[in-house]
Amino acid sequence: MDPLFQSALEVRENAHAPFSHFMVGAALEAEDGRVFSGCNVENASYGLTICAERNAVFQAYAQGVHKFKRIVVIADTEAPTPPCGACRQILHELCGADLQVDLANLKGVQRTYRVRDLLPEAFDASMLTGPR
Ligand code: THU
Repeated sequence: MDPLFQSALEVRENAHAPFSHFMVGAALEAEDGRVFSGCNVENASYGLTICAERNAVFQAYAQGVHKFKRIVVIADTEAPTPPCGACRQILHELCGADLQVDLANLKGVQRTYRVRDLLPEAFDASMLTGPR
């Protein structure tokens, strides 16, 4: 089995989703082969919830790792769960437009995208430096 899929499946078991009961896991593979995983963690103040994808990216950044190849996102849905808008922005800015995004359900990876396809015309830091 794809080890990245396996990591995403395993971390999904730790999802803290008492409000939505929608459990998500994400596993991010760094360029050096290391894997960082995250699950969604919900909060009674709903907007404070963190998605699985962002949790995984922040785990990697916390270890000083900034270059990545691929992320697997898994949820128990027939059609695989695409990253929310906030996660697309974070993936674009912190992992890069080339990152491969594999969307999976419990049966395995169902669809593959690049971040550039999920977030075309992205707002990024280069736009902060131009003339006003
Ligand atoms: N969620 C994720 O973790 N990733 C996604 O790609 C979509 C949504 C979480 C957030 C919340 O805890 C639950 O799924 C329902 O939206």
